[in-house]
Amino acid sequence: MAVDLSQAIPNNVALADDRRLQRALEHWLPAYLRWWRELGPAESALHEVYLRTAVGVDARGWAHFDYVRMPDYRWGIFLAEPEPDRRIGFGAHRGEPAWQDVPGEYRAELRRLVVTQGDTEPASVEQQRRLGASCPSLYDLRNLYQVNVEEGRHLWAMVYLLHAYFGRDGREEAVALLERHAGDPDRPRILQAFNERTEDWLSFFMFTFFQDRDGKFQLAALAESGFDPLARTCRFMLTEEAHHMFVGESGLARIVERSAELMRAHDTDAVRPFGGIDLATFQKFINFHYSICLDLFGQERSTNAANYYTMGLKGRFGEDRIGDDHRLETARYPVLGLAEGAIAATEAPALTALNERLRRDFTADSERGIARFNKVLADRGIGAPLRLPHSAFHRRIGAFAGVHVTPEGQVVNATEWQRRREEWLPSAADHAFLRDLMRPVTSPGHVAAWIAPPRRGIDGRGLDFAYVRLH
Ligand SMILES: [Fe+2]
Ligand SMILES: [Fe+2]
Repeated sequence: MAVDLSQAIPNNVALADDRRLQRALEHWLPAYLRWWRELGPAESALHEVYLRTAVGVDARGWAHFDYVRMPDYRWGIFLAEPEPDRRIGFGAHRGEPAWQDVPGEYRAELRRLVVTQGDTEPASVEQQRRLGASCPSLYDLRNLYQVNVEEGRHLWAMVYLLHAYFGRDGREEAVALLERHAGDPDRPRILQAFNERTEDWLSFFMFTFFQDRDGKFQLAALAESGFDPLARTCRFMLTEEAHHMFVGESGLARIVERSAELMRAHDTDAVRPFGGIDLATFQKFINFHYSICLDLFGQERSTNAANYYTMGLKGRFGEDRIGDDHRLETARYPVLGLAEGAIAATEAPALTALNERLRRDFTADSERGIARFNKVLADRGIGAPLRLPHSAFHRRIGAFAGVHVTPEGQVVNATEWQRRREEWLPSAADHAFLRDLMRPVTSPGHVAAWIAPPRRGIDGRGLDFAYVRLH
């Protein structure tokens, strides 16, 4: 389908042919821009940012890089190319043609899935809005803004689905997506991890490493959906998500690299006095972000998850590569729970354990990243000390909510938890340390001392390129 860039809203969904829908979205546009001004990246409206803009949905479509003032960014609606004769790949409707419209009996469930995904997109922009003031380099500042505009586009993607397929209540949900705000005590975002603050760049890189990876797995599960417009929307969003995780993973690897250099140079783990981030602090941020992201996958046993699957709305990660019946009526899957004060695995129906399965896919993917950080350390003669905490650690949702579990997976009492909490999770003092450490570095080619320079620039540009022109 051709990409139409001449419209106020660039798109490849032939928006110009549907006047009603086009008018509805053009009506939503000013509300979106107001939200961007008020809750998007702070004091950034005049900056010229070297951004990539989607001008097509194939690999070459990403080739367009130029300076853009972010309020002028062309947020568009792009769906991946349709697959001819696509069939539903799982659940009770397996083998039937994919739906091009919302099946009436699943309308409420589908809307809920779209709204929940849509809510995370503007939330992350809100959470990250003050980071520009402490950027470690123009390269990093540009990457932050790139992530921000793409999360804005992801919101557009979900709002398009709401407007195009859910009628009046879809339009109301689209308005509500701009009314809930991250951390707002009265109208918070739907999922707790999207109400936390992201106030320093260690948190930002952890966010793009863990939260955006959660996004990858949720989108991958929705990309299997029998509702074809949702599947195609998510498939295109996944191409953007890959860059967000690159920002997180490379940012964290650069921090670890600098810490390792300082550890070697000064022969100590305590690198804070030398302007670095010590690995103990780094580990605490892993513990925090990983654990709040595990909660994003929901209860270990969930009838909602089972229903979404059986209805054909949300599949598994890599559904078509899994060698089973894709209906799961009799299959079992192990889930962890608490039995007589200890953590133990029990078998559950695979259908109700789908959240747990997706969570484990996420964990395996996260582990590959952690291994990469440990390789950076090992290459510099430092034994592999970074790890993911136990999946029962610091959980607020599921079988371990309210249970005190150490990062090693030992159940402890509340007193012990309180006594050791700051060994395991970032403390107020850790946050204050980072706030103090992170002063903005905004001359081209310069990079803050707490992070190693990137390996290479963006779009073939050098490291001394002015990725953002500040105004
Ligand atoms: Fe996103
Ligand atoms: Fe993302």
